[in-house]
Amino acid sequence: MKITAANSSGCDLQLPDDILIRKFTVLYECEIGAGTHIGSHCTIGRCKIGKRCKIQDGAVICDGNVVEDEAFIGTNVTLCNDRYPRTCNDDGSMLGDGDWKLEPVTIRRRASVGSNAVIGPGVTIGEGAIVGCGSAVFHDVLPGTTVLGNPARTIRSLV
Ligand SMILES: CC(C)(COP(=O)(O)OP(=O)(O)OC[C@H]1O[C@@H](n2cnc3c(N)ncnc32)[C@H](O)[C@@H]1OP(=O)(O)O)[C@@H](O)C(=O)NCCC(=O)NCCS
Repeated sequence: MKITAANSSGCDLQLPDDILIRKFTVLYECEIGAGTHIGSHCTIGRCKIGKRCKIQDGAVICDGNVVEDEAFIGTNVTLCNDRYPRTCNDDGSMLGDGDWKLEPVTIRRRASVGSNAVIGPGVTIGEGAIVGCGSAVFHDVLPGTTVLGNPARTIRSLV
């Protein structure tokens, strides 16, 4: 389902295709797949979320990010998209929408990102991989691999 206008609601929203959005979540123009459930107090930017995903309370999924089908995003997870965030140019003028480089995060199918993890700009979390809670991930994670810590390191891999 395409969300066509920025939206937030003080009530739970039961949308078509069994999409559930809990109250106080802010949605920008994004695409959400059938069967996906999104908790409360999330921020969902101009991004794409697949089918049957679980996005837990407080998660922040910024513009350009992609969450594939059946992925799990834990509470307060942040997917970043800007490596060198800045507010202003040297002359004090505000940076505009196109004045920074978007580096999207991709969470592949059936991957799980534990609570409070931060996924750095441009990183891909492979299919079925697990990111431990509280981790900070700055490199791609191979499919079926478990990483944890800050910076995140591999503790187990099927590859
Ligand atoms: C990453 C994870 C899957 C590892 O589980 P596991 O394979 O069963 O690993 P273990 O519990 O045996 O831990 C192995 C070691 O890593 C450490 N460890 C486990 N998870 C960790 C984490 N997130 N960050 C740092 N260290 C961690 C353990 O303390 C242990 O260290 P030790 O050997 O020195 O005692 C799990 O700990 C995790 O973080 N799951 C996500 C939980 C979550 O956020 N759920 C969301 C909804 S509640």
